[in-house]
Amino acid sequence: MDQQDGWGTDVGQSVDLRPEVPHPARMYDYYLGGKDNFPADREAAERALAANPEFRSTARANRGFLQRAVRHVAGLGIDQFLDIGTGIPSAGNTHESAQAVLPHATVVYVDNDPIVLTHARALMAGTGLGRTAVLRADLRDPTAVLAAPEVAELLDLDRPVALVLGAVLHFLPDEDEPARVLRTLLDALAPGSHLILSHGTADFLPAEVRDRVTGVYDRATAPLVGRSRAEVRAFLDGLEILEPGVVTVPLWRPDAEPAAGADRVSMYGAVARRP
Ligand SMILES: C[S@@+](CC[C@H](N)C(=O)[O-])C[C@H]1O[C@@H](n2cnc3c(N)ncnc32)[C@H](O)[C@@H]1O
Repeated sequence: MDQQDGWGTDVGQSVDLRPEVPHPARMYDYYLGGKDNFPADREAAERALAANPEFRSTARANRGFLQRAVRHVAGLGIDQFLDIGTGIPSAGNTHESAQAVLPHATVVYVDNDPIVLTHARALMAGTGLGRTAVLRADLRDPTAVLAAPEVAELLDLDRPVALVLGAVLHFLPDEDEPARVLRTLLDALAPGSHLILSHGTADFLPAEVRDRVTGVYDRATAPLVGRSRAEVRAFLDGLEILEPGVVTVPLWRPDAEPAAGADRVSMYGAVARRP
């Protein structure tokens, strides 16, 4: 790995953002109306939106789920968060949601996309008392994530931690062994830790739409692997799944009456406790 400073920013060398290749983080930023994306990202995102115009509302619904789930878990007293697949900062980042409930909550953010790290300092803004750090690492190497100095410094793994995997596990195809990755992370966390998971699905999409979307991401830096409700549920084996279980993200403990079609949004969400 490149030598990095404490914010995960590469030291002494420029970062190649590869603007000519669509990046999921920047495409997602475009869906959310952000400005941190390049023409190749916008073109790819527009092709995905042409196939499935609901991508944008799905991204927003996913953000809403994460905010509610983080607030809920913080309300249970969990004050340390490991958020892998952070994304480009947007409204309602994990530290903002957590610190709204527990001002001293600490967050370690992890992402493998250099552009996310270039925005790391923006993440540090805010009035919370808690500390945050941003680390460049890959979910596919969970041992390296757990061994990172930022994790040792900010998180006490002898106390419960909330592991946040928002819309990232679907970038790991089966050959990357997402279940093993998840198990490695959870095994390192204390009993009482929680997993906040959201995961894309094609359960409600016609095959033709699914294939077009998959085709767009096949040309990006990471493929998109939608999984069925049963497959997402299987990631939670051995954990205590909080009510209402594995549901489409708008249906997870909504703050207001969900809109029509909320049960067919292409993203599942769940929160589960490590016994
Ligand atoms: C769709 S965004 C989700 C952002 C945020 N978690 C959310 O749900 O709103 C997915 C993020 O995961 C990151 N990502 C994808 N594959 C990854 C990997 N193997 N390791 C670490 N981060 C990854 C991308 O760079 C991107 O920032």
